[in-house]
Amino acid sequence: MPFDLTRTLKERHGENYALHQQLLNPQLANVLQTLGFDRFYVRGEGSWLWDDHGERYLDTLAGFGVFALGRSHPAIKTALHDAIDADLANLVQLDCALLAGLLAEQLVARAHDGIERCVFANSGAEAVEVAIKFARAATGRSRVLYADHAYHGLTTGALALNGGKGFKAGFGPLLPGAAMVPFGDAAALAAELRRGDVAAFVVEPIQGKGVHTAPTAYWQEAQALLHAAGALLVADEVQTGIGRTGRFFAHEEHGISPDIITVAKALSGGYVPVGAMLTSDKIVRSVHSSMSKALKHSSTFSRNQLAMVAGLATLATFDDLDLVTHARVQGDALLARLRGLQERYELISDVRGAGMMIGLEFGLPSSPPLRRRFRVLELMRKGLFTQAIVLPLFHRHRVITQVAADDVNIIKLLPPLVWSDEESDVLIAALDDVLADAHRDSSLFFSAGRQLVGGAARVRSF
Ligand SMILES: Cc1ncc(COP(=O)(O)O)c(C=O)c1O
Repeated sequence: MPFDLTRTLKERHGENYALHQQLLNPQLANVLQTLGFDRFYVRGEGSWLWDDHGERYLDTLAGFGVFALGRSHPAIKTALHDAIDADLANLVQLDCALLAGLLAEQLVARAHDGIERCVFANSGAEAVEVAIKFARAATGRSRVLYADHAYHGLTTGALALNGGKGFKAGFGPLLPGAAMVPFGDAAALAAELRRGDVAAFVVEPIQGKGVHTAPTAYWQEAQALLHAAGALLVADEVQTGIGRTGRFFAHEEHGISPDIITVAKALSGGYVPVGAMLTSDKIVRSVHSSMSKALKHSSTFSRNQLAMVAGLATLATFDDLDLVTHARVQGDALLARLRGLQERYELISDVRGAGMMIGLEFGLPSSPPLRRRFRVLELMRKGLFTQAIVLPLFHRHRVITQVAADDVNIIKLLPPLVWSDEESDVLIAALDDVLADAHRDSSLFFSAGRQLVGGAARVRSF
């Protein structure tokens, strides 16, 4: 019997958590069930999701940054339908297909002058793996530096560059010589570079885990130090790239010209996984140095035509909607409104970010009763206060938010770039309501505590 999607979804409706418990990652199912986040989502459009009861959810995660264009964007759907209907000669392999060339042309054209070539990948982590390999080949050195709090994906090479504590444990030894430097500390970078064996510094222009930023002076100094030491600057723009921060690439803000740029997430249009490493002709030729090395780096699905079509349609839609500008304008407006909340609620200690990548940090308030309540939750586990905010945002207001990293009191907002004023209204009203409760008395903390007892207190961010 041929696979019938509509029938299957109907017949197997509601089995999702049982199947994941039995066959996939049971702990993910446990976490989501403990938090009461277990829903059967049936549809997504723009910034919204719907469950099987017809309830609507405002999504500020956007699939961890994938849905820059929102979900189910008609332009991407049409392009993908066309691609399938055209019976394209996909993955011929012994071929140089047009669409990969066209997407490379589009990406290279949007980068600075030194970026001349593109190597495709299937994910953000794979793009980072490509960057590590090519940086090593180009410099003839092996050591790779990364920043504390960094996140570059969870394949073993990218994992070696993870600046947190939890992700690496149990998987070592990872990439030899990988070394962490404090984010934003040019002196520490200079000290590592003095050894003369560094291939590259891989770094996010704005760190995803916590939405940490560094000033322009740091970026310029870091670039100068790296180049003086013969090392490469790799801007991991998997999350920040393709308009997220109100620039096409976030590093543009600092007037720097990275030797390598990685992108993924938003380029997919929310449909087909795709990643890319962008770099110079010279660096690509350090790997593909002769005809005998034509296949020295490759990946079976990397130039998959559906991914190329999704990427091309995504970039065309960005242009049509002037989405980079829209992200900057909407982001500025949202930041201003969040700062308005900060003035009213002492629990908010910082609002930061750029474009549609915003961190909302909570900190120890000064008024005594509030201080006590905050401390009690924090004593149970660091970061628990923010879980106590995220839960009622979801359960009371059906607004999906995330804690930005383990053990931190930061909500990271990563909404679709097509975000509207009305969607900001919903988000701000929900935050206002939950924060008013948190400031008023202990009931929010008690109800969150009840929900968290029995497991969620142990739930880490993800
Ligand atoms: C900066 C950065 N690099 C790499 C990755 C890994 O991407 P993927 O999950 O597609 O492997 C991520 C994912 O969040 C990221 O934010």
